Parts: sequence; C-alpha cells; structure tokens
Amino acid sequence: MNRRAFLNQALKHLAALSAALALPESLTEGHAHALRRHYRYSHGEIDWHAIRRQTLLDEKLVYLNTGTLGACPRHVFEVTQKTWEHLERNPAIVGFRELIHTADEARKQAARFIGADEDEVAFTQNTTEGMNWIAQAVGLHQDDEILTTNHEHPGGVVGWKYVCQQTGARLVRIDLNDQSRTPEEIVALFRDRITPRTRVISVSHVLFSTGLRMPIELLSQLAREHELFLAVDGAQAPGMLRVDVHALGCDSYASSSHKWLMAPKGSGILYLRKAMQKRVVPVALAAGFGAYTANTGTRHFPGLVGHGAAIDWQQILGPERIETRVLALSRYAYERLAAFQSLRMLRPRDVRLDSGMLAFALTDRRNRDFVAAMQKQGIVLKVVPMLNAVRVSTHIYNDERDIDRLIAAMQAEGIR
Ligand SMILES: Cc1ncc(COP(=O)(O)O)c(C=O)c1O
Repeated sequence: MNRRAFLNQALKHLAALSAALALPESLTEGHAHALRRHYRYSHGEIDWHAIRRQTLLDEKLVYLNTGTLGACPRHVFEVTQKTWEHLERNPAIVGFRELIHTADEARKQAARFIGADEDEVAFTQNTTEGMNWIAQAVGLHQDDEILTTNHEHPGGVVGWKYVCQQTGARLVRIDLNDQSRTPEEIVALFRDRITPRTRVISVSHVLFSTGLRMPIELLSQLAREHELFLAVDGAQAPGMLRVDVHALGCDSYASSSHKWLMAPKGSGILYLRKAMQKRVVPVALAAGFGAYTANTGTRHFPGLVGHGAAIDWQQILGPERIETRVLALSRYAYERLAAFQSLRMLRPRDVRLDSGMLAFALTDRRNRDFVAAMQKQGIVLKVVPMLNAVRVSTHIYNDERDIDRLIAAMQAEGIR
C-alpha cells in the first residue's frame, strides 16, 4: 500500500472511531488536520522539525529522556480525553457495549504493529507487569537457572527474583560491561553459561543502561537449540525500532507503550508465542479461559483507545522512517559528545548494536550532579547510577538543535 492510501485508510479509521465515540465534528477535523500536518514532507522527506509541535512538551525543555517516559502526541491525548468524557456520560453502557470493542480493535492493531497474531497479544499496564506474568507462568523449579545479564532493568527481573525466592531457582547474570563486543561474541557469552539446569534466557531488547541493542535473533536460535524459553523485555523498543516478534523468534515480549510508542501512560503490550501458550500457565485470564482479549475485566478503556491512536500516528509516519531518524539523531549526538576529552562514551562499538539511546560517563565528577545541573537549565537527561553515567534518548520530537543545546550547556559547565 502506498503512503497516500495508507494515510487515507488511517483517516477513515479515525473518522469511524470518532463517529463511534460520538466525538464533535470539529475534533474529527482537527485530528485529520493534525495528521496531515504530521505527514508534511519537504523534498520527499518528513519534516521532522514539525513533530515537536504535535506534542504537549513544554516549549522551553530539551527533553532527552524518552527512555523513562515519552511525550504523547496532542492528537493521541485528545482521543483519550474525549473517549474518557464520552465514557463518563453513561459508564456501563458506553464501557461494556462500545468501548470494550474499540479497545479490542486497538489490541489487535497492537498485535499487528509488533508482528504478532491477534491471539498472541494481551494489553498490560507496563513492561514490569508483563515480565512478572511471564516469570510466574513459565513454571520453574528448584535449581533451575535463568540466564540474564547484569544490565537488566529492575522491572524486567523482579518477577524472576520473586520466583527464585519461592522455588529455589537461580538467576545467572552475564557481564555486559564491555561495550566492544560484537553480536556474535555476546551470544557466545550466553552459550558458555548454558548448563543442563538452564531453562530460560531473559534479556532486554535494548539495555536501559547503555542503549545497547541485544542480538535477539541470534539469541533465539541459541534458545531453540537448547530448548530454552526466551523472554524479552522490550520496554525500550516498539516505537523506536521496528519490532517483528515472529522474526525475532522470542517466546515472549513485554513492552511499555508510554515510552517510544508515545501512547497514554500506563499502557503496555505482552506477546506470548502461540506454541508456548499451551506450555505455560495462562497469563491473562478473561471470562472463560480466553486469555488474549481486551476483555480481562474492567480496564482503562480511554487509555486503550488512545493506544490505538498512538499506533495510527506512528504508522502514518512509518516505523522504518522513525527508526532511521532516531538512529541518525543518536549518531549525531554520539559524534558531538565524543569530541569531549573528559568523558567516556559507553556506546557499543558494533553499529548493529546501536539504538536511539546512548550513554556516557563524565570521569571527573558525579554524573548525578551533572544531570541535576542540566535539569535546572531545562535539559532533561537520565542518570544511570550503576555506571555513574548519563543516558541520552533521542526521539522523533527531538532534533539536532536539542543536541546542540546540550553540548553548549556542557561547555558552559566547564566540561572539556
Ligand atoms: C529495559 C526496561 N525494562 C523495564 C522497564 C520498566 O518499565 P515500566 O515502568 O513501564 O514497567 C524499563 C523502564 O525504564 C526499562 O528500561
């Protein structure tokens, strides 16, 4: 489908959504107009500088922390808000006769967005919840081993830790501090640590600490060879990188849509490969035992409808274009930051491991203090305490000028 046909389809979808929600005509037009504006091209390219104005971000901020929380597009915010207002007029009827169906359409749309089948995806509130469900579902026993890394976010491992405490299973952490490794070398580290007791490999798609993109396809081959369950913490990927869970080959994939997907806060996707659904404890029971439906009890329907709007928005821009833009901006940030003598870049050396996040460590000061000083100037970064480092996220509402402002502020701070 060409881009124009896609846009038309998305606009029709929005119009249908608006009609279903009895939204005022003006808002419907507003959405369409906003979407056309997002879609503005110059010289055949998207005008990325226009994206920022489609968010509600404070104009004065240099917001470089999508890895913690992304900014909702104005249009997504409005769909969510209007849906909520509509719901509150007649909660039981609007919620359970109408929005439950719209929300389930959004869930199916989310499945397609990450390359899954419709009956392989459940909505969650976030990655932590999805990873917890999976840790409970796999069925571990005493002395079983879960292979993971020393760079996992607490939300991705807390479920495994709990299961270990309950069953006597063990977490085995692989050291990923060395940024110079190739994807193949990383996989070899995992291969070397597999024992007859290993049951699971659980890793992030993109490490929250350094932004290193893990070689999931290669790890999934390894997992298949040894009949291990591969659980992926995808908090940092959908909306930043194109994600196709079938191509990745993992067994489960948990993500947070309130980061790079720019969906309402408290929304996440959980994928569980169909072949695995019979082998693990059902993770999201609905009425009866149909696990993969939005009908898992009462939900925040407006947020789920907003989730669908966020995916519409990204589809219009194109996940491939978004990935290319995000990586280019991250590379620009890398090149400018690498010119400072007094900092150590923590970016992977192999470009196949790049993502839209990078980290650096100022060697002559506490990085926490530096992040706080930048925050006072309206430059929002993330401190990574375990590495005494700073993380920079570059999303599509950022541009080169944001990086330039960061560099100027660093120079003014006396960093050489
Ligand atoms: C890799 C990773 N996993 C899990 C989480 C937790 O995300 P959430 O709070 O949305 O569950 C984060 C948050 O930054 C993360 O980066």
